[in-house]
Amino acid sequence: MSDLREMFVDELRDLYDAEKQLTKAIPKMAKAASNPELKQGFTEHLEQTKLQVARLEKCFELLGERARSKPCSGMKGIVEEGKEQMQEDLSDALMDAALNGAAKRVEHYEMAGYQAAVEMAKALKETEVVPLLQQTLDEETQMDRRLSQLGKTLLKTALAEGEEEEEAAPARASAAKSAKSKARGNSGSSKQARGSSKVSKSARSGGQPLSQTPVDDEEIT
Ligand SMILES: [Fe+2]
Repeated sequence: MSDLREMFVDELRDLYDAEKQLTKAIPKMAKAASNPELKQGFTEHLEQTKLQVARLEKCFELLGERARSKPCSGMKGIVEEGKEQMQEDLSDALMDAALNGAAKRVEHYEMAGYQAAVEMAKALKETEVVPLLQQTLDEETQMDRRLSQLGKTLLKTALAEGEEEEEAAPARASAAKSAKSKARGNSGSSKQARGSSKVSKSARSGGQPLSQTPVDDEEIT
């Protein structure tokens, strides 16, 4: 028979599995991060996560239930997505921004889970576990806020990096055009170069059509 209490214990077992998955995933995220604050945030949250695992074990004890995991496929999917992003060939700034986003996904998923657990515990009058679950919910909420704050800096850095590349790209393109222009014996913009090219082509044909078929000069060039 299934009842609300059973569902509540199941929810805690799901969270227990989610936290344990994170104790393995967070060190990888910390390693992939370049920004010192982000790295530090992950390292600190790893220690917090280990305490959250212990806190859930305390909840099981207080409820007289066995501390058992129920595979959390939601967290598994989020962690899997994070892994895929970490395998991408990104600059440090883009990787940090991606890791920050991945961590926010984790936090929001956990916050939803703990909010549900707190509500269920209150409804079931399992008052002894409410402060423990609330403490973890508060920690997840704080981590989410910290990530949001840090995210602003990380996005600015990623944007600045992109703009620097854009500035460098036209410079490179212009250098290439100028080299081409010199090879043709022309100087000036590419538009002028194209115009000169048309003139010389017309001169070569001596004003006579090259063939009987009308040709659109624009299409040739
Ligand atoms: Fe957590």
